[in-house]
Amino acid sequence: MDTVQVKDRQFTLFIKGEEIQKQIARVAKQINCDYAGKTPLFICVLNGAFMFAADLLKRVTLPCQISFVRLSSYEGVSSTGIIKEIVGLTEDVAGRDVIVIEDIVDTGLTMKRMLHTLSERGPASVCVASLLLKPSKLQVKVNVHYVAMEIPDNFIVGYGLDYDGFGRNLPDIYVLADGGQSEIEKLKLLYYKMNKMLNIVIFGAPGSGKGTQSERIVAKYGINHISTGDVLRAEIKNGTELGQTAKGYIDQGQLIPDALMIDILASVFDGFKNSKGVIFDGFPRTIAQAEALKKMLAERGQEVTVMLDLDVPEDELMTRLIKRGQESGRADDNEETIKKRLTVYHSQTAPLIDWYKAENKYSHINGLGTMEGIFADICKAIDAVK
Ligand code: IMP
Repeated sequence: MDTVQVKDRQFTLFIKGEEIQKQIARVAKQINCDYAGKTPLFICVLNGAFMFAADLLKRVTLPCQISFVRLSSYEGVSSTGIIKEIVGLTEDVAGRDVIVIEDIVDTGLTMKRMLHTLSERGPASVCVASLLLKPSKLQVKVNVHYVAMEIPDNFIVGYGLDYDGFGRNLPDIYVLADGGQSEIEKLKLLYYKMNKMLNIVIFGAPGSGKGTQSERIVAKYGINHISTGDVLRAEIKNGTELGQTAKGYIDQGQLIPDALMIDILASVFDGFKNSKGVIFDGFPRTIAQAEALKKMLAERGQEVTVMLDLDVPEDELMTRLIKRGQESGRADDNEETIKKRLTVYHSQTAPLIDWYKAENKYSHINGLGTMEGIFADICKAIDAVK
């Protein structure tokens, strides 16, 4: 066990410097994207945020200004609840897009006070980028827009954070845990779960009820829906560079290359980066795409949590689709075309099902039954892995 002595206490290695850097790079990327075209004013809260601010701002590519203020609410290892004055706020924040850089939001009292003081000075916008957040310690409602890492309640030192003024220079984060190796293992698992997104890939043939079930998953788990078709249409409609390139292929009747599709998905995914997760609908369709998706997520410290295969027998799909065709009068819902669509679906997904099985991510969902019953099975599958 890697430990350090800081004054009278022993702390154990908790989050390695490498992991910290990875998460900071993610936050920087998001800020660069969200503030494109703006000139934000960063206000770093000293002392604790100095390392985070330095590493974050080295990666911020926007024209920006950086200022420093001081305040503190901690003495020893428990919050004193005394919030000292904000010192050094000499910048004129009126009309500015302000980003407060904080080391950790714990009870949230400091940040609430800080935001209140700032908002009285007429900024165009204010948001918070915090290295760490202890969600279960929050006493007041504060919106922390960018969080590099969520952590459990335990007191930590290192990477700018101190114990009675010491330990700030440690490049990694250490935790105060007296329960030995088993407590550390538990805390690490908790940390992993707190920071892991719930990323679902859903497969379902036309008529399987995939759309309805996706909507329910989104509502229950608070995740976002990424449908490749919708994403493409939106990119093209908004005339983005990626959208224009994609349109070029579509206009020529060609399939959009995997690399371009992944770039588009990555940019949409990055927009959801601080969310609880996403559901990928309509992607991947080939093993190459599944591999590209795995790589894209891994570059962001994420992975597919589970692949849900909503499986409905062919004759039932046929009955449902013919009925739907009759009701909607859709010309392409006749038996022959339906059969073709289903054959294409099965030939596309069969290899992917094996691929996800080999990845240990596959979950078979019996798509026959009531909507509620099927959704209950889906929730069971998700809860087992999240
Ligand atoms: P809050 O007002 O309770 O959110 O306190 C935020 C401040 O408390 C941070 O800026 C830190 O200086 C300090 N703090 C909170 N938790 C810890 C910790 O685990 N280690 C070291 N300092 C902490």
